[in-house]
Amino acid sequence: MRAALLILLGLVIGVIGTVPVMNALDARNPMPKAVMTTMGFHMHQLQGALKAQRCEGAVVQEQLQHMQVIASDIPNAFPGAPQPFLDHAAKLRSALQSAVQAAPTDCPSLAAALKPVGAACQDCHREYR
Ligand code: HEC
Repeated sequence: MRAALLILLGLVIGVIGTVPVMNALDARNPMPKAVMTTMGFHMHQLQGALKAQRCEGAVVQEQLQHMQVIASDIPNAFPGAPQPFLDHAAKLRSALQSAVQAAPTDCPSLAAALKPVGAACQDCHREYR
């Protein structure tokens, strides 16, 4: 009887103990937020350039290239993500690749290049954020 109670107690402690540990592990993985915060930073820079009507080709291209590299980190930063999420990430990568290839040198071409990029961000956020 005593052994059975101890086993039961062990199980209860085990279950109660697991949840906070999992939460703590989750909270300790800063990658998803870090990747998205950095992505948001570059997007914000580009939107600022548009707003200020200062879309210098070299500066814009550097931001776009950073975003392209960061986008390739999304699958690793969100381990275990479902396939539709990965599809959204792939869509963002290809939108950024097109934007880099378009190499905008003025604000109208930057705005055009950013449109599918922004749509790819929104599509994923609508479903998963
Ligand atoms: C494949 C899916 C996906 C794509 C594509 C995506 N995001 Fe996110 N984003 C997320 C998820 C999921 C979160 C919530 C992350 C969290 O709270 O841990 C998020 C959160 C964010 C945040 C808030 C971060 C915070 O502080 O909580 C910003 C900013 C952001 N994304 C910017 C962007 C930008 C800009 C793009 C496009 C260039 C983009 N994201 C594309 C999935 C995506």
